[in-house]
Amino acid sequence: MFIQNLNLINFRSYPALSITFPPQGALLEGLNGAGKTNLLESIHLLCTGRSQRPVSRADMISHGEESAFAEGEFCGTGGGAVTASIGFSRDKKLVMRRGGEEVRSYSDWFGERPVVSFGTDDLELVYGAPETRRKFLDMLICQMDRGYLGTLTKYRRNLACRNALLGKTGDPAQFEVYEHAMAAAGAEVVFRRAEAAGELCAAANDFYACISNGGESITIEYIPKYKYDLTTTSEWQNVYLNSLAERRPRDAELMYTSQGPHRDDLRFLLNGRPAKSYASQGQCRSFALSLKLGSVLLLERHKGDSMIFLIDDAVSELDPERTSRVYPLLEGRGQIFIATPRCQVKLGDGMMRCRVEPGKVIIP
Ligand SMILES: Nc1ncnc2c1ncn2[C@@H]1O[C@H](COP(=O)(O)OP(=O)(O)OP(=O)(O)O)[C@@H](O)[C@H]1O
Ligand SMILES: [Mg+2]
Repeated sequence: MFIQNLNLINFRSYPALSITFPPQGALLEGLNGAGKTNLLESIHLLCTGRSQRPVSRADMISHGEESAFAEGEFCGTGGGAVTASIGFSRDKKLVMRRGGEEVRSYSDWFGERPVVSFGTDDLELVYGAPETRRKFLDMLICQMDRGYLGTLTKYRRNLACRNALLGKTGDPAQFEVYEHAMAAAGAEVVFRRAEAAGELCAAANDFYACISNGGESITIEYIPKYKYDLTTTSEWQNVYLNSLAERRPRDAELMYTSQGPHRDDLRFLLNGRPAKSYASQGQCRSFALSLKLGSVLLLERHKGDSMIFLIDDAVSELDPERTSRVYPLLEGRGQIFIATPRCQVKLGDGMMRCRVEPGKVIIP
């Protein structure tokens, strides 16, 4: 899958933009503040319905305008094209269309146009809160397996209902409805995450070994708040269900559900030590980049198609040796967009070189 045409109206710094990309992608060069990240953001939005940054939709509407519109023509590697568009306004109206038909739910939107983004914020994967790592893993699985988003939503919805009951009632019958649904969905979430984390660990470690020239290794461990080393999902489900019932009085005091997949984490190790406290900035960036490269590989494997990889200033903080080893790893990894304020980046075969200036993209 790749994006062939992109049209923007009142999207951040672009009053109007229309551009055609080759299947290999583009190098977006430009000064700070030129609009490179904004352009990547519009592609991410079309693929997932969300920005890659923690911002609201209204932030993406050009200042002084009431609404924004983004449209992309996406082509499958094996042929066939589909147009996806998103229009949204400050009063929270949102219209998503695919092939002219309105799409009403994110679960129908998500995962069809797989995308991975890597940017400066991704150091948060190493340094940030468990929620950042959970979201990263969940987003990867959602794109690999479109049913997973529904399972995750079911878990979260029932968790919210259980939390709302805590401290209000002790009636077991009321809790049981939500706890049964949480245990069934939670079992799937936990086993799916553990499986994906294992697969990602192997793939990311191969990339990290290349970037560090074989001198270092990384490990990704899935750390469930609630034990998952039970052999089957049904076994996990029963044990978790009992635990939820047992913990009701304690959870009522805390006013939240203290155990379950919503509290899980991933542990990142560099040479067997916690990356967060041991790794240097450049090593952390290499770690995060390897996680993203590993994600691309997993998506390719599971979707049987190439995907879009958005890379925002990948090599800042990397030394020249690591930098020289990163770009060859990207070659042939789907449609790649690289945004950089530096101009010495070597272009992959077939990639288009663009100069980004405020409000426009110039193709020399
Ligand atoms: N909603 C908006 N409306 C209009 N302009 C916006 C909006 N949001 C951001 N901008 C402008 O977009 C520019 C930033 O764009 P962007 O983040 O894409 O830059 P960049 O090329 O990635 O820069 P850098 O190299 O520093 O990362 C800023 O000039 C900012 O004022
Ligand atoms: Mg930027």
